[in-house]
Amino acid sequence: MIWLYYSDEIIEDVRSRNDIVDVIGSYVNLKHKGNSYSACCPFHHEKTPSFHVSREKQMYHCFGCGVGGNVYTFIMEHENMTFPEAVEVLAERAGITLPEKNMTGDEKKRADERTKIKDMNKLAAGYFHYLLKTDHGKTALAYLKKRGLTDETITNFGLGYSDKYSDDLYKYLRSKGYSDDEMVKAGLIRIDEKHGPSDRFWNRVMYPIVDPNNRVIGFGGRVMGDGTPKYINSQDTPVFDKSRNLYGLNLAKKSKRKGIIFCEGYMDVISMHQAGFDNAVASLGTALTVGQVNLIKRYTDRVYLAYDSDEAGTKAAIRALSIMREFEMPARVISLKPYKDPDELIQAEGTTEFEKRIDEAKSGVMFEIEILEHNYNQNDPQERTEFQKEAAKCLARILDPLERDNYIEAVSGRYGIDKKILKETVTAYGISAENMIDKSVFREQVRRTTPEEEKEKQHLKSERVLITWLINDNMLIPAVKEHLEPSDFGDHLYADVLNSVYEQYDSSGKVEPAVIMNHYQSKEEHDKVSSIMQQDFGVEVDADEKQQVVTDLIRRIKRKSIQRKIEEAGSDFELIKQLMQQKKSIERIQIRI
Ligand code: UTP
Ligand code: MN
Repeated sequence: MIWLYYSDEIIEDVRSRNDIVDVIGSYVNLKHKGNSYSACCPFHHEKTPSFHVSREKQMYHCFGCGVGGNVYTFIMEHENMTFPEAVEVLAERAGITLPEKNMTGDEKKRADERTKIKDMNKLAAGYFHYLLKTDHGKTALAYLKKRGLTDETITNFGLGYSDKYSDDLYKYLRSKGYSDDEMVKAGLIRIDEKHGPSDRFWNRVMYPIVDPNNRVIGFGGRVMGDGTPKYINSQDTPVFDKSRNLYGLNLAKKSKRKGIIFCEGYMDVISMHQAGFDNAVASLGTALTVGQVNLIKRYTDRVYLAYDSDEAGTKAAIRALSIMREFEMPARVISLKPYKDPDELIQAEGTTEFEKRIDEAKSGVMFEIEILEHNYNQNDPQERTEFQKEAAKCLARILDPLERDNYIEAVSGRYGIDKKILKETVTAYGISAENMIDKSVFREQVRRTTPEEEKEKQHLKSERVLITWLINDNMLIPAVKEHLEPSDFGDHLYADVLNSVYEQYDSSGKVEPAVIMNHYQSKEEHDKVSSIMQQDFGVEVDADEKQQVVTDLIRRIKRKSIQRKIEEAGSDFELIKQLMQQKKSIERIQIRI
């Protein structure tokens, strides 16, 4: 396989200078255990760690959802990058200067497109920021000042102003050499058949949206005053996916404060940061998504919700809590009453009060039960019973038994419910609550194997296991090579891997799995190949046993291989006779190591 962009040597050089444990360790919290590192998989939701990283093999694999690969695969999957982008990121990390890319075709076009959009966004953000400081931006600057923002905050967030001429940015980007088409793709310009090109944002205060790698990926623009729509946001583009990014995360990820505070608005984030709560982030004009919680999991294990105190905000909080629960992310809810949102509270009461509200934040469960309380008439015995049952259901969702007991105690005290009865009710609901979690949509995101795949897997198991043996113990390779050719394998990909294993061993006397990974480009191939390379049998076997197991595998694969050849031989009896002969000799195969 040839990469169109960089030579094999460069790809391998960059890979070998980025230790996989260091790289993955900077994204997930790896626990060191024996000669492997493990963590809860960042690609699917799970309770017990089945995501493994091996320093020796320079590979990772999740036994839970089947993803895996080398350091490139990880960066591609985790950062949603193309292969060349992953090479660039890792080259930079290792301080390697890459030669000019020699790209062709579609992929070059797409990579260029993304780079161009990022460049245009950066230029636009700079331009908006510049305008804010000029005469044109006077009103906008006054507006931001009136809302209490300091110059430092304005600079930190790169706030700006889009001019009142509706083709101002268009002309600016034009002067920088960008085409209409490119500007449209970046979501900055619209083209109308009749009226020609116009800016998407004009006469608004501009909030650039910056990703954790400090790239401007989109914008939010607010009217100054009461016009509608209050905000306009960039549409999704090849570099901007609203459901996988958070406003303020570029700054919050550097915060020294504990946890991350989720709020609803751009202004809330800015206001909180200015008040010193620089761990605040917000969704981008949509409800909280699974992708955003997944993203935040890399940075923290504790979340605060500072959602608006109105009905919409409460509903959004309840919904957010249910997502947090699925990810087992402990969440607390900050009460902002009587203020509408964090910005108002901070403006009115200041930093100390907000700090106090954080300290007093309620756990998600108590918050939900309090909301429930108001939905039932507590003076009506029947409604009160309903409420208590619903509260018990909430409590049943707490999986940790100690924590659950503490909450049962708290709820029983607060609402005057007999603790023993409440506990029994919770236990009764416990079973169904577990089921509910299992059936949840989030679990669906984890890949399951179909019966066909299962059958196929059985069939190919010997081939897979044999490769695993060879990778774990290179000394076996010459003995196996004597009896098996890659073409004996039924699976093309495994055959290809076996071929690489032989080649590597012949040329260097050892096998480096991560180098073999460089040969593949699709996610499916990476997952499949990594699963065989990362397999760990977890048992120590002595030389005799090993000899026996491997001999047995060779015989099984050989039998299948000859069987296949016989089936393909049709009526070539001479060939069939030969194959039958070979089949008999299989039983005499015995390797010695
Ligand atoms: P808010 O109306 O609470 O706005 O909407 P805000 O951020 O507090 O702004 P100020 O204080 O009125 O200036 C919360 C978030 O919902 C999205 C934006 O992301 C906003 O920050 N939103 C709101 C839109 O995308 N479009 C809208 O028209 C309104
Ligand atoms: Mn607000």
